[in-house]
Amino acid sequence: MTLEEYIELINKKLDEYLPEDKFPQDIFKAMKYTVTLPGKRLRPIMCLEACRIFGGNIEDAIPTACAIEMLHAQTLIHDDLPCMDNDDFRRGKPTNHKVFGEANAVLAGDALLSFAPQIILNYSKNLSDEILVKIMKEYTQYAGAYGVIGGQVVDIEAEKNWKNNVFGVKPEELLEFIHTHKTADLFKLSLRTGAIIAGADEENLQKITDFAHKLGVAFQICDDILDVISTFEEMGKTIGKDANADKLTFVTLYGLEKSKCKLCCLLDECCDIMSDMGVKTSVLSDIISGMKRKAGL
Ligand code: IPE
Ligand code: IPE
Ligand code: MG
Ligand code: MG
Ligand code: MG
Repeated sequence: MTLEEYIELINKKLDEYLPEDKFPQDIFKAMKYTVTLPGKRLRPIMCLEACRIFGGNIEDAIPTACAIEMLHAQTLIHDDLPCMDNDDFRRGKPTNHKVFGEANAVLAGDALLSFAPQIILNYSKNLSDEILVKIMKEYTQYAGAYGVIGGQVVDIEAEKNWKNNVFGVKPEELLEFIHTHKTADLFKLSLRTGAIIAGADEENLQKITDFAHKLGVAFQICDDILDVISTFEEMGKTIGKDANADKLTFVTLYGLEKSKCKLCCLLDECCDIMSDMGVKTSVLSDIISGMKRKAGL
C-alpha cells in the first residue's frame, strides 16, 4: 500500500472506533476532535508497514495502529495545554482546550490513554492472548513514566532552566533523554508492535527497535528545525515557540546547521539498517525522504 492508501484506511477505522453520540457526549466529542483532525498518521502507518514487512497480515494490526494514533493524540492534547506548551493551534485548528475547555481537554487525554488499549483488546479478533499480552507490555512501557511521560516531564523541567544542569545532568544528555522518550518511544511502540503481530524474531525486533530509535530522534530534530524555518500553513501549529519559551531543543543547543547535519546522519543510518534487514519498503523510504525535503536537506 502507498502512504495515501494507508492514511485513508487509518482515517476510516479511527472514525469507526470513536463514537461521538455516547453519553456524556462532551468527552467523546473532545476525544474524537483531536484524533480525527488531519495528522500525518506516521505512527499507525509505521505499525502497519512493520507488520507487512515481517510477513504479517495488516488487517490484524489495524486496531493496534489506530490505538497508537489515539495515544499520540493524547500526548498532543496534553502537550498543548496552558500548563505545558500553551499552544492555540494543532493540525491547523484550535487546540482541544480552546474548543472544549481545559478540564475537558485534560479528561479527553486521560480517557484516550485507556480507550486506546480497549480498542486493541476489543477488536483484535485474530491475535492470541500471548500476542495481546506482549502488545500491552509494549503499550504500558512506552506510554507511561518510563516512556513519553518521562520525556515530557524532563522537557518541561528543562524549559528556561537547561543551562543550569537541571537534574545534575549536562544539557547534551538531557536532550538525548528528552528526544528518546517524548518522541522516539512512540516510534518504537509503533514499529515493534507491528513486528510482534507479524511474529518477527528477536534479531529483527532488535534491528527495528534500533531503526525506530534513530528515526524517532531524527523526527524530533526535524520538528525542532521546522519550528524555526517552517510556516504555520505547512505545520498547522504556531512556529517559533521553542526559542520564545527557551526550550531545550536541538536547534537551541547546537544551532541550525549542526542540527541539519545530525538529522542527515541519523536518516542515513536508518537507510543502512533497512538495507541490512534486506527489506523493501517504499513507505518507510518515503517517510525518510519527506523529512529530508521539509528540513531542506
Ligand atoms: C507532533 O507529531 C509531535 C512531535 C513528536 C513533534 P507529528 O508531527 O507526527 O504530528 P501529527 O500527528 O502529524 O499532527
Ligand atoms: C512534543 O514535542 C512531543 C509530544 C507531544 C509527546 P513538541 O512539543 O515539540 O511537539 P509540538 O511541536 O508541540 O508538535
Ligand atoms: Mg512539548
Ligand atoms: Mg508542543
Ligand atoms: Mg515541536
